[in-house]
Formats: sequence, C-alpha cells, structure tokens
Amino acid sequence: MKEIVHIGLLGFGNVGTGAYRTLQENRESIAQKVGAEVRIKRIAVAHPDRQRDIDLEPGVLTGDPDDILNDPEIDIVCELIGGVQPARTYIQTAFERGKHVVTCNKELLAKHLGEVTQEASARGLFLLFEGAVAGGVPVIGPLTTSLAGNRIDKIVGIVNGTTNFILTKMSRDGQEFDQALSEAQRLGYAEADPSSDVEGWDAAYKMLILAGVGLGVETSIDTVHTEGISGITGRDIVYARDLGYTIKLLGTARRNADTVEVRVHPTMLPYSHPMARVDDAYNAVMVSGSSVGNVMFYGSGAGPLPTGSAVMGDVVEIARNLAIGAPPTRPRLTLTPLPVAPLSDIVCPFYLRMTVADRPRVLAAVAGVLGDHGVSIHSVAQRDVDENGAEIILITHPARESSIRDAIIEIEDAGIDAGIGAVIRVEG
Ligand code: HSE
Repeated sequence: MKEIVHIGLLGFGNVGTGAYRTLQENRESIAQKVGAEVRIKRIAVAHPDRQRDIDLEPGVLTGDPDDILNDPEIDIVCELIGGVQPARTYIQTAFERGKHVVTCNKELLAKHLGEVTQEASARGLFLLFEGAVAGGVPVIGPLTTSLAGNRIDKIVGIVNGTTNFILTKMSRDGQEFDQALSEAQRLGYAEADPSSDVEGWDAAYKMLILAGVGLGVETSIDTVHTEGISGITGRDIVYARDLGYTIKLLGTARRNADTVEVRVHPTMLPYSHPMARVDDAYNAVMVSGSSVGNVMFYGSGAGPLPTGSAVMGDVVEIARNLAIGAPPTRPRLTLTPLPVAPLSDIVCPFYLRMTVADRPRVLAAVAGVLGDHGVSIHSVAQRDVDENGAEIILITHPARESSIRDAIIEIEDAGIDAGIGAVIRVEG
C-alpha cells in the first residue's frame, strides 16, 4: 500500500516531456484513479545542465541513470531512450532491483519481447509498453485484456505516421516522394535520417510486437519482409486512384495453420476498405478476432502528448496496483515460435504497371505470359505516354507471388517490348 508512487524517467525527449506534461495537466484526476499521488522523482538525461522549456524542481534532473535504478523509493522506471543498448541493460537492472518498467522501445521489444516479458513475469513485475505501437492509440492493452477471449488470426496496421503523411501528400497534393518527405521533415514528423520510417523498419518493429501480443507468435526481425515507400511514384498513386484504390504502407501479421506471415509493404486498398481513409500522420490497427470480428483502433500514432498519454496510462495501471498492494494482474503473454510463410507463397491480387510499345499484339503477349503462369487478369487500362509508347495498368485476380515474379521475368525477357514499372500488392 502506498500513498506516493515514485517514477523515474530514463530519457526526456519528445515522449518523456509528453508524459511529464500529461501528468502535470491531469495530476488530480490521476491521483483519484490511482488512490495515491503519482510523482516523477528523477529524470535521467545525457545533458542535465541544458536549458529546457519546461519547469522542473531543482534536483529532478540527473546525468546518471543509476540515480534512478539504485533509488529504493522509485517504484516504476519509464525507459524512454530507445535503441537496444543501453536500454536493455537498464530494463534488466530495473527488474533486478524490483522495479516495474514502462517502455516505448519498439526496436528492443521487436527483438527481445519473449525474454523481457519472461524476466518481468518471473519476478512478478509489470512490463507495459502501450506507447511502443501506434503512439497514443490504445492497442496493446486491448489486445492483452479486452480481446483476450478471442483467437486472433490477423492484424493489419498503418503504424508509421511519417510514411502515411508522405503518401497522403503525394495523393492529395500531387507531390512526388522527395518533396513530400522534405515537408514531413520540415514539420518534424520524419527524423533527419528518415530511413527507418521510409524503408519500413519502424513499421516492421511494430508489426512484430503486434504479432507477439496479438497472435502469441514469436518470429525474428530477419524473417519479416520489409519494403518501404521510396519506390512509389506520383503516377502510381494517380493510376491507383483512377481504379478506386489508395496506396498505404500496410503491415500484416497473420497466423496460418502452421506458419505466420509478418510483412510490411506498400499496399493498394480499395476505397471501401476501412483503412483507406486513414490519412495524414494518423495510425490505425485492425484486429480480426474469432468472436468479436473486426475491430479498428485509430488515432495519433506519434508525437509527445499522444505517446505521453500511452506512457501515463501504463503508469496509472501499475500505480493503482501498487497503491492497493496487488500483484500484476494482466493475462500472461506466452509466445510460440512459428515458421514464417515464404513470401513466394502469399496469394493476393497484384497491380502491375508496364511501359510497352504501342503496337498490335503487345497486350496479347503480356496477357499470354501471365496466363501461362496461371495469373488471371481482373482489369486492364492503357495510358498513352507518347506516340510510340504507352503504359498498361493491370490488376490481377488473386495470384501466388511466385507466379507473378516468374511471369514478370518472362515478360521482360520475351522480346515483347514490355518493361515492368511497378508491382504493388492489393488488399482484397
Ligand atoms: N517515427 C514514427 C512514425 C513515430 O512516424 O510513426 C514513432 O514510432
């Protein structure tokens, strides 16, 4: 039983300041919910003497994480520094000292979810990480608790705000990738080095965490098929729109009979799909549960206050347990290793854009090669590029990825003057 629950923050960047402000603004209602005061006692930063635009009591900042990890009064450590090391060591030390942990560290969780959750539960401690996936959108908590009665077989997500912002700008304002990326950087959505966002790694980490928490499956980051959006052109976005689709960086985690798929790649969504209208820097996660059907979570996937909201939600849950002297109560997370389904086995419709010579029999030859590989065409359109050349835009019926890849090689080698410009998977 506690009257004050003491928190230590490791890191005070965007998320740390967001958590601090969330607590400051809602101090009284949080205390009411917890039944005790929640107080941030120490904050460890690399440069404690740096000028900050936030008023902190003297002595709160420290340059030494051990001032938090060794302080017996601190009950909950919020690890908000990111990256695998030294965060992994700090979390382990916190557990060894009997402290509960809240983290938003998607890379660490994607790579070590099984280990760290086991360490926490072996010691009867909380490890909560709502802010690691989709920022302020509650998805880890609902997957772990409210949806726990379901078998979950599929989760799809738009879980990277930067790429969603870029794709929205390209679609809405006709911008090309580089221009939209510069704007994302100017507005502070993308990092100065945006490769983890635009190449899909950030989304891959989040989908691995969702696969663990939602599907109960353990897979390695090396097995996740990850394709970013830097190859998407304004032209594909326009053609997709003309056909009734929008292009999103979609993450998929799906459990098959004996395998699991975890993949992140640009995907064409029909406008009728609930996630097709998730625009700007917003995130959404759709979960398919055996009893509940489809449930969609939507909101701000990044930013100091939304992610700070997720951190404080976790803190409040732990603090409430501490205030009443109860042990951690969340259902256990058990991860089962499953082999990853090869990408070549994936079956879905495909969008193909080809540059072709505008003369008789070219379209017939392309259709012939696709047919030889068992690929059936759903729709076809042609756009004239100049007097000699044209672009053919095809949407196929669901086809095996390996058949599409084999057909593409044959089309390019067959001397029929057709070159592949883009291949994009289509969500049915
Ligand atoms: N860089 C991430 C995004 C935010 O753009 O969604 C933090 O996960």
